[in-house]
Amino acid sequence: MKTFLQLGCVFAACLIAVVAQTEQQPLPGPQQPIAFSHKLHAGTQNLKCATCHKNPDPGDSMGLATAGLCMQCHSDVKPDSPEIQKLAAYAKDNREIKWRRVYQIPSYVFFSHRSHLTAGATCVTCHGEVKEMAQMYKAKEINMASCMNCHQANKASTDCLFCHEKMN
Ligand code: HEC
Ligand code: HEC
Ligand code: HEC
Ligand code: HEC
Ligand code: HEC
Repeated sequence: MKTFLQLGCVFAACLIAVVAQTEQQPLPGPQQPIAFSHKLHAGTQNLKCATCHKNPDPGDSMGLATAGLCMQCHSDVKPDSPEIQKLAAYAKDNREIKWRRVYQIPSYVFFSHRSHLTAGATCVTCHGEVKEMAQMYKAKEINMASCMNCHQANKASTDCLFCHEKMN
């Protein structure tokens, strides 16, 4: 009986802990050097992804906006905000903003954004509903199995050397 009661208390404590956690849930995903919101920029402001992710040649990577590009708007928009002042300092010193990466695959894997966009995939397919994200987080798992599943479904090659260099 005693142990049952003790268990009950432990359970109640856990329950309180869980409730407390859901009440002040932190945003998912890594804290970024500047609190950038896709929900605000790509959602509310309806900016195109390509405004900031230009997919430079040869098209493998999407690329990230520089502080200078952000400042094209933010020299006028909210210049007094502390976050924008951080941004302005990066732009002034021409310093690279060290955004924490959310999606990254190892360098021994071939991947090209452009080939996939040409083949009809969209950002949502691999990155989820970015327009609704107040903070970027990993909405979809990207690993060998998820690549393979889509290749199988779309009759794209699943040959090892399609995605990997010849190992040794
Ligand atoms: C096309 C114009 C435009 C561009 C480009 C742009 N922003 Fe914004 N940004 C806005 C607008 C509009 C708001 C909303 C301002 C408001 O709340 O009134 C905003 C809000 C913000 C805020 C919130 C500021 C606050 O304190 O409320 C941050 C931080 C921010 N932007 C960062 C960035 C960063 C970083 C970039 C570049 C990657 C960027 N912005 C590019 C227009 C832009
Ligand atoms: C105003 C500029 C701006 C626009 C518009 C924008 N992004 Fe971004 N994006 C950023 C910045 C800055 C980061 C890095 C900070 C972060 O992760 O929030 C980023 C990061 C990302 C990442 C994570 C990359 C990684 O591996 O860390 C993805 C995925 C992404 N954006 C997709 C999109 C999609 C899809 C759209 C259009 C629906 C879009 N972005 C529109 C500025 C922008
Ligand atoms: C077929 C899946 C797929 C699609 C479709 C896709 N991405 Fe990605 N994305 C990835 C993978 C995988 C990575 C990690 C790449 C790496 O580490 O080299 C990535 C990385 C990124 C990054 C990080 C920086 C960079 O330069 O690569 C950004 C930004 C990004 N994606 C934005 C987008 C946007 C915007 C779209 C739509 C126009 C999009 N992605 C469509 C799979 C995808
Ligand atoms: C949304 C479905 C989908 C996903 C997810 C996907 N692929 Fe693909 N991939 C395709 C299709 C379809 C093609 C064939 C395009 C063509 O025929 O040109 C392709 C082509 C490729 C190519 C050849 C492209 C070229 O430039 O020759 C490589 C390499 C590749 N994918 C690697 C990957 C890797 C690595 C991942 C996981 C990180 C991945 N793919 C995820 C659908 C997908
Ligand atoms: C469609 C693209 C694709 C194909 C085809 C593919 N791989 Fe991969 N592979 C990946 C990606 C992406 C990763 C990285 C996974 C990660 O980071 O979680 C990977 C990782 C690996 C790793 C490292 C695993 C680890 O846990 O460290 C090995 C080994 C590997 N692949 C072997 C193979 C072999 C053998 C084949 C052929 C049967 C193959 N791959 C076919 C995309 C592919």
